[in-house]
Amino acid sequence: MSITIKQSFTPIRVGRHTLPNRLVMAPMTRSRAEFDGTPGDLAAEYYAQRASVGLIVTEGTQPSDDGQGYLATPGIYTSKHIAGWKKVTEAVHDNGSHIFIQMMHAGRMSHPDNTVHHRQGVAPSAIAPGTQTFTATGLRDVPTPRALTTEEVRQTVADFRFAARAAILAGADGVEIHGANGYLVQQFLASNANTRRDEYGGSIENRARFAIEVAAAIAEEIGADRTAIRLSPGSALNGIDEGVEGPALYRYLVAELSKLGLAYVHIMHSGNEQLLGDIRKLWKQALILNRPGRPRDQIGSDIASGLADLEAYGAMVLANPDFVARLKTGAPMNEADRGSFFGGTAQGYTDYPALNAVSFA
Ligand SMILES: Cc1cc2nc3c(=O)[nH]c(=O)nc-3n(C[C@H](O)[C@H](O)[C@H](O)COP(=O)(O)O)c2cc1C
Repeated sequence: MSITIKQSFTPIRVGRHTLPNRLVMAPMTRSRAEFDGTPGDLAAEYYAQRASVGLIVTEGTQPSDDGQGYLATPGIYTSKHIAGWKKVTEAVHDNGSHIFIQMMHAGRMSHPDNTVHHRQGVAPSAIAPGTQTFTATGLRDVPTPRALTTEEVRQTVADFRFAARAAILAGADGVEIHGANGYLVQQFLASNANTRRDEYGGSIENRARFAIEVAAAIAEEIGADRTAIRLSPGSALNGIDEGVEGPALYRYLVAELSKLGLAYVHIMHSGNEQLLGDIRKLWKQALILNRPGRPRDQIGSDIASGLADLEAYGAMVLANPDFVARLKTGAPMNEADRGSFFGGTAQGYTDYPALNAVSFA
């Protein structure tokens, strides 16, 4: 085992919790929840299989029915959701890991065919992303959303707070706000998705307000040391364009969020190394870094260089329930099967082979 990767196996304090190692399962939507948003029967097994990582961040989970964007995604705002998630959190804890539920409000990245209520999506402004999405009836244009009123924006902040409490009642160790990848929180940040004229639009401070209010409300509800946020500065996913002022916006946002004393910030990094270095300096708590497509031989190098405290991996953990054992033993990794990422049952979900017991020795 290289010196570089060895540092990934040392414990670390993250907010209220001490994690046994610094490897994180990145949040991944799997679209296998029940119709009403209760996690599916196999979810507990799926997450428990992957509990050798220090922290599991769950698939994006809607804090309200308006927050749903994709088919069969779970929610965390009813007593049935809580009971379903309880099985998942207990299974993960029994297997020695920690679990944060990722709170994802899809905003305009929603389609009426994908939700139980079939309503138009909601967003900062009535601007369609100009992209397509998978629905029950095939690939469709994402429709123009309805702009939230100021009062509804405040209600949405309250929905996040309510859902965070529900996550804790379900036994989660904390909540990660999905502020990345072009969903509601990032729609507020980006001037091409947010043309509001109230206090949630216009200046950098105003566009950052929603993210900060959501984080502050959740922190007040469940403790800052159990509250986290994921950001993807500069990402163009889902029709987002943050323009030339993007880096300035993130420097402001990260500095403000850091004052709240959150458990961690999770950066899905897509290119601006200078900004990443600035974020590292501005952020006073733990930093999780996810570099999409990071090859195996570079795992641990951002921890070793001091740029990150933890590293998150998505597809590799999805395909390798025993990701940590494979890293430790140098065993080869299974390849992820993209065809079974979204929807379906056990195939491509809980049936990825683990190393046999002999290889672990
Ligand atoms: C099947 C799948 C579903 C994903 N769903 C989410 C999600 O719900 N929330 C999120 O923040 N990112 C999501 N992502 C992005 C991953 O968290 C991660 O950033 C991405 O896969 C790049 O990391 P990797 O190369 O290690 O997989 C998803 C990725 C995949 C492959």
